[in-house]
Amino acid sequence: MPFNIKNILYNHGYSINDKSKNIYLVLYDSIKKAIQYKSLIHGIKLPPSRILSKDLGVSRSTVIKAYELLVLEKYVSVIQGSGSFVNKIIAQKETKSKEQEKRNLPKLSKIGKAFKSHVLITNNNEIKGIPFRPGIPPLDIFPILQWQKLSNIYWGSIKSSELSYYSPTGLPSLKESLIQYLKIYRGITCHANQIVVTTGSLHSLSLIGSVLIDRNDEVVVENPTYPYAVNLFKSLRAKICSTTIDAEGICINEVVCNKPKLVYTTPSNQHPTGVKMSKNRRIELLKWATKNNAFIVEDDYDHEFSNWENPITAIYNLDEHSRVIYLGSFNKILHPSIRLGYMIIPEYLLDSISGLLQQSSRFVSPSIQKTLSLFIEKDYLNRHLRNIIQVSSERKEVFLKALSENFENELTINSNNKGLNVIAELKEGVDDEKLSNYLNETGVTTYAYSNYFHQGDKKNGLVMGYCSVNNALIQENITKMAASYYEFIELQKR
Ligand SMILES: Cc1ncc(COP(=O)(O)O)c(C=O)c1O
Repeated sequence: MPFNIKNILYNHGYSINDKSKNIYLVLYDSIKKAIQYKSLIHGIKLPPSRILSKDLGVSRSTVIKAYELLVLEKYVSVIQGSGSFVNKIIAQKETKSKEQEKRNLPKLSKIGKAFKSHVLITNNNEIKGIPFRPGIPPLDIFPILQWQKLSNIYWGSIKSSELSYYSPTGLPSLKESLIQYLKIYRGITCHANQIVVTTGSLHSLSLIGSVLIDRNDEVVVENPTYPYAVNLFKSLRAKICSTTIDAEGICINEVVCNKPKLVYTTPSNQHPTGVKMSKNRRIELLKWATKNNAFIVEDDYDHEFSNWENPITAIYNLDEHSRVIYLGSFNKILHPSIRLGYMIIPEYLLDSISGLLQQSSRFVSPSIQKTLSLFIEKDYLNRHLRNIIQVSSERKEVFLKALSENFENELTINSNNKGLNVIAELKEGVDDEKLSNYLNETGVTTYAYSNYFHQGDKKNGLVMGYCSVNNALIQENITKMAASYYEFIELQKR
């Protein structure tokens, strides 16, 4: 990919006027720094010496000498006939922080620091594989060609005047499709001006949090719950009030707090335990919210899966006092990389949220919004939903069978979750975080169950998605996972 290396090198100390050392060393230093700070990333091709020498106004031998030094120090590799490529390097944290101190950069804001210290660690290492990452639908059956054709319809008929700015809350055509979709799939009736199109549930939650939460405001969350939500609230410097859950869902009357601003809940399929909140508890929660003057954020992140067999009415539908903010997402039923979701908000929040969107991400790309609205209109979404429900139910069976065959009595499986995840509790003393990191090294992704608890006793286990890959890959990866698990247990004994 062509890029402007000249700017990068100047940003990393290159200067033709630096007379303190030979020019090839100045060039070598600046390329090395650019690699260390990842301005030149692993795999990128450096310009041929002939071109760089021309761009910088130095001799070709200067560039060749600098490149030779970088090769010698393993920052760069030469592939004969192809060119010079940047190697992967291990970040040198200490050098970086010293360098920053030297540059005397402005201090982070309190909120900036809070976001930095609440980066979620569901898995310490870089995630290495798709199987069995939680929350991922069957990726291999997403109708790529169908989507491509619909996208071509958009691009085939677009006028240049349509390439401008759009409303921050979403395209009217998508809002209309969503209104129909919500009526059919969730029994929800709402107006187009209550809908805000976002890039997903987490984006929706972040917008809500930003317009509602001040420092030390109380936010009620279930324990355990979706850790990204808790971390978001902590980063916004809210006070977290924890509630337990039982077989009927949230135990809201047990919560200890003074003036709660909102309660975040996943009633269709409690995340990650899979408890479905009973109708009584939904009503109780609404009464509690009305009495306490709080909002309820109903994260219906996977209702298409969890409500398929036994639908239960959304809290949103029971609400008569504009207490509920409803979140939906297409990242679970299509694929996470599509980044499309929506929320239904009370009119009271509309101007603040529109303003925030206008001053931040502005709007979701109209091409994606339009393609989704065609996907819904042409009934492709309905067909895709039926496919994923069937395929994921078959895969769940294969997954659970393979687990029980390969792990004997090592795991206690909780497959209550009607969505995309299964929890396997571990024997006492097995550290789920360490195990999860160990498995990750072999390309098997699991999340440590203990990370979903933000208070009190934590349970040890693995949260796993079971349907992102096909049956053969499920079997293959469970066998691999079991081998690594027993290896891990042996290593722990030593
Ligand atoms: C409970 C819950 N809510 C929200 C999300 C975020 O979804 P999205 O990808 O739409 O932001 C997830 C993702 O895993 C989730 O598990």
